[in-house]
Amino acid sequence: MLGGTRFVGRHIVEECLRRGDDVTVLYRGRSPSPFAGLVRHVLTDRRAPTIEATTVLAEPWDGVIDTSAGDVDDLRPVLPLLGNVHQYILLSTCGVYRRASARHGLTERAPTIAADASHPVRASATRKLRCERYLRRRLDRINVTLLIARLGLVIGRYDDSARLAYWLEHALRGGDVLVPMDDRQPVQLIDASDVAHFLRDAVNQQLAGVVNVAGARTTARTLVDTVLTRASRAVTPFRVGEDFALTHRLQPWTEVPLWLPTSSPELALMSVNNSRAASAGLTFRPLPDSVTDALGWQALRRGWSQRWLDHAREQDLIHRWRG
Ligand SMILES: NC(=O)c1ccc[n+]([C@@H]2O[C@H](COP(=O)([O-])OP(=O)(O)OC[C@H]3O[C@@H](n4cnc5c(N)ncnc54)[C@H](OP(=O)(O)O)[C@@H]3O)[C@@H](O)[C@H]2O)c1
Repeated sequence: MLGGTRFVGRHIVEECLRRGDDVTVLYRGRSPSPFAGLVRHVLTDRRAPTIEATTVLAEPWDGVIDTSAGDVDDLRPVLPLLGNVHQYILLSTCGVYRRASARHGLTERAPTIAADASHPVRASATRKLRCERYLRRRLDRINVTLLIARLGLVIGRYDDSARLAYWLEHALRGGDVLVPMDDRQPVQLIDASDVAHFLRDAVNQQLAGVVNVAGARTTARTLVDTVLTRASRAVTPFRVGEDFALTHRLQPWTEVPLWLPTSSPELALMSVNNSRAASAGLTFRPLPDSVTDALGWQALRRGWSQRWLDHAREQDLIHRWRG
């Protein structure tokens, strides 16, 4: 594992351990490893590998799973050190696709974005695309099977992205909740344990090429209802509608995570075609199970992000909406 100690990587390591694999995690140590005594740890910055890391990377590997490459500068120092690798899996993102709506969703053949350094999300997707291209060129030459796993939005235990957490916090806190989303807004989330299961299987299958690892499609209504019905306290949703929310300058996605207005081009990313992954064995955990699990994790960490809708403002908006 190039990475493996925070969220998705942590799920992958757990899955490998469940299957009895020998796992090595290479990481910097900024996030403490939860795997003491269970895996071999190699502490290094991949951009400047230590002598130990250099030796370890040259060993024979059934699979290298790379969760931490965000830029070609992360790959350049590592690739020449790899000696004998059967399969290399890069975790990339569906964010690399151009935001055009496609009738059957974005398939692996959908056009990718043009380089855009000015937009923070697109800039990181652009860097991922460069990683994909760099690996294709390099690994083809040395006959290593390359799988590029383009992930959709991932949820689950250990998630620190502050996306689903907004709704989980509302469920934990109880009270009145402002819901700006259109009921039919598509939402596509994948449980990190489904990603881990699929990618571990991919090593056995020597799956190659590009694959979208995205969840089953649902609606904002189903998602919000699923979260709020798991609340331990009484919760009352107020479905104010997006016109009201936009008129009152609520910020989609940042202030109210997972909300995308009907006109948002980002909605294309909630319509990713996952049929290649499904035919290769990707399974989908039922949403209520994922939410229950994530809620248990959120109950341990708690907290309200500075970027989220302020509680007093939320109550004021609900008050105005009720007239
Ligand atoms: N979450 C989503 O919804 C989503 C969506 C699309 C794609 N993805 C992709 O999924 C991947 C998984 O991310 P994750 O954070 O959950 O993975 P993770 O493997 O659980 O955590 C990231 C790991 O990378 C290590 N790392 C980071 N920079 C490093 C460096 N320079 N040298 C060595 N180790 C380094 C970190 O360790 P230290 O901090 O200790 O260095 C940590 O172990 C990412 O590539 C992300 O782009 C995620």
